[in-house]
Amino acid sequence: MATSSLLLLLLLISSCIISALLPAASASKTRHFKWEVGYIYASPDCNEKILMGINGQFPGPTIRAKAGDTIHVELKNTLHTEGVVIHWHGIRQFGTPWADGTASISQCAIDPEETFVYRFRVEKAGTYFYHGHYGMQRAAGLYGSLIVDAADGEEEPFRYDGEFNLLLSDWYHQSIYDQMVGLSSNPLRWIGEPQTLLINGRGQYNCSLAAHPVEGSNACRPTSKDCAPVVLRVLPNKTYRLRIASTTSLSSLNLAIGNHKMVVVEADGNHVEPFTVGDIDIYSGESYSVLVTTDQNPSSNYWLSVGVRGRKPKTSPALAIVNYRPNSPSKLPESGPPMAPEWNDYNHSKSFSYRILARRGAPKPPQSADRRIVLLNTQNKIDGYTKWSINNVSLALPPTPYLGSMRYRLKNAFDAGMPPENFPPSYDVMRPPPNPNSTQSSNAYVIGLNSTVDVILQNANALAVNVSEIHPWHLHGHEFWVVGYGDGRFGEKEVARFNLKNPPLRNTVVIFPYGWTAIRFVADNPGVWAFHCHIEPHLHMGMGVIFAEGVEHVGKIPREALACGMTAKMLMDKHRP
Ligand code: C2O
Ligand code: CU
Repeated sequence: MATSSLLLLLLLISSCIISALLPAASASKTRHFKWEVGYIYASPDCNEKILMGINGQFPGPTIRAKAGDTIHVELKNTLHTEGVVIHWHGIRQFGTPWADGTASISQCAIDPEETFVYRFRVEKAGTYFYHGHYGMQRAAGLYGSLIVDAADGEEEPFRYDGEFNLLLSDWYHQSIYDQMVGLSSNPLRWIGEPQTLLINGRGQYNCSLAAHPVEGSNACRPTSKDCAPVVLRVLPNKTYRLRIASTTSLSSLNLAIGNHKMVVVEADGNHVEPFTVGDIDIYSGESYSVLVTTDQNPSSNYWLSVGVRGRKPKTSPALAIVNYRPNSPSKLPESGPPMAPEWNDYNHSKSFSYRILARRGAPKPPQSADRRIVLLNTQNKIDGYTKWSINNVSLALPPTPYLGSMRYRLKNAFDAGMPPENFPPSYDVMRPPPNPNSTQSSNAYVIGLNSTVDVILQNANALAVNVSEIHPWHLHGHEFWVVGYGDGRFGEKEVARFNLKNPPLRNTVVIFPYGWTAIRFVADNPGVWAFHCHIEPHLHMGMGVIFAEGVEHVGKIPREALACGMTAKMLMDKHRP
C-alpha cells in the first residue's frame, strides 16, 4: 500500500476508536434482545451498498453474556421479500436443537414481518459469533459477535488488563443474488476474490477504482465515517486480550501486529496450551484469543494487518492501528505494516495448526471410536453445473426442515437411505475426478446417540489439474477433538498415530490442499446438525453433510420452527376440529 493511502487512512481514524473493556460483574441471568433484520444503506469499505443489518447496525449488535446465561433473542424479519434465520456459531444448543438457526435443517425460515424467538443457553466462556444461515445471507453482512465471559466466581486461566474484539470478514460489491445466480449458472460464474477485507465491518476500498455511472447510484466516499479504520487504544506495558473471529465468505486470513508477538490462549471457545507466534492464520468459522503485551517503543504507533492466505491475493490487506497512548491515533507508525507470509506458504499454515493443542487438564477424547466416516471432498459436475460433493453426493437441502420431519417421522420429506461412508480405494486424490459426474441428494447420516464417531475429511484435486483448495469444516451442535492431520491419502496406519493425549477441542477445522484431517466427537446432543465447509459459496454449491442423532429424544419443537413444508401441513391436520 502506498504511503499516501496510509496517510489518508490516518486522517480518518479518529471517529472509530474502540476502547478496551473489562467485563462487568453480575449474576447468571436471561438476557433479552429485540432485533429486526433488514436491508440498510452502508459504506463498510467507503463504497455505498445495501447490506443486511440488525436494528440498523452493521455488523449486528454484540451479545455479551456469562457462561450459564440464557440468551433470548426476539428476531423480527423486516426484509421485504425473503425469509431469514440466524445461527449461533459455536453454541452447542444442547437441548434446544430448534434454536440452531439453520434453514431447512433446524427450522423453517422466518417469513417477512414474522418473528421467531431464539432461546438457548451459553455454556462455555469464549469468543463466538452469529450469522445468517439461509442462502448466502452471511455474505450479505448478516453477522455479529457473541462473547461469553466466565461465570461469576470462575476465571479463565490467563490474565490481561483489557481486551479488544476483532470480527473479521470479507466484502463483495456484487449482491448475494448476483453471486448466487452466477454460482448456479452453466457455465459457472465464479464470485472471484472479495473487493475488501473488513475489521469490525470496516475496510478501505480504493474509491478511484469504483465506477458510479448511473445518476443517483451509490457513492464511494473515502471520508465516510462507516469506513474509518479501527483503532486499538492501548497503554504501554500492559497485556491485552484480542478476540479474533472470522466470518469471511471466502478468504482464509493471516493477522499480525508490527513488532509485537502474540500468545495464543483460546481457540473456538476452548483453552489451548499457550504458544507464542508472530502471526496467526484464521479460517472462516474459527475464533482465537491472543494475548499481546505492549512492550514496544511507546512513542510509536503500530499497524495491525490482516491479509489473504491460500488464494492468490487480489484484495489489499485490512489495516488497524495499535495506538500507544498518549500518542495521537493519527500518528503514522514508524515502520510499515508487518510482512505477511507468502499466500501459498502452506508449511507456515500447517505448522501453526499443528501447534494448537489442548491446555493441560482439558477433557480427553474417548480412546476409541464406534464408527468411522470418511468424507472425500471433490469438485464435480451435475448436468454440466459445477458443484462440490462429499463422497460424490452434493448436498441439496429439502423444503421441510429435517428436525421436524424426522421428529414426527414424516415420509418422503428428504431422500431416504444412508449417504456413503467412504469412497472407492482406487480413487486418486492427487488427480481431478476421472468421472466428474456427481449426484445431488438430501440424505442424512443417522448416528447412534452417545456413540463416538471419527470423521476423516479427505481433500482431493478439484476439477482443474494441480488445484486443491483449503476448506474449513464446521460442525453444528458439538465440539470435536482434532486428532490428526496428514498429507496425501488417509491410511489405516494413521489411526495408531492419532493424538489422543492433548488434541484441541474445536468446532471448526481446516483441511489443507491434498491433505486429510481427522476429528473425533461424541454424538450426545439429540438433534439434526449440519457439518459443512464454512466457505459460503462452497456450501451453496453443496459442500456439506447432515448428521442426525437421537431425534426421538428431541423435546417439543416450537410451532414457528415447523411452519413450512410438510410439518406445516401436519400442524394444520392436527388442529382441524
Ligand atoms: Cu458458521 Cu453452519 O455455520
Ligand atoms: Cu470449501
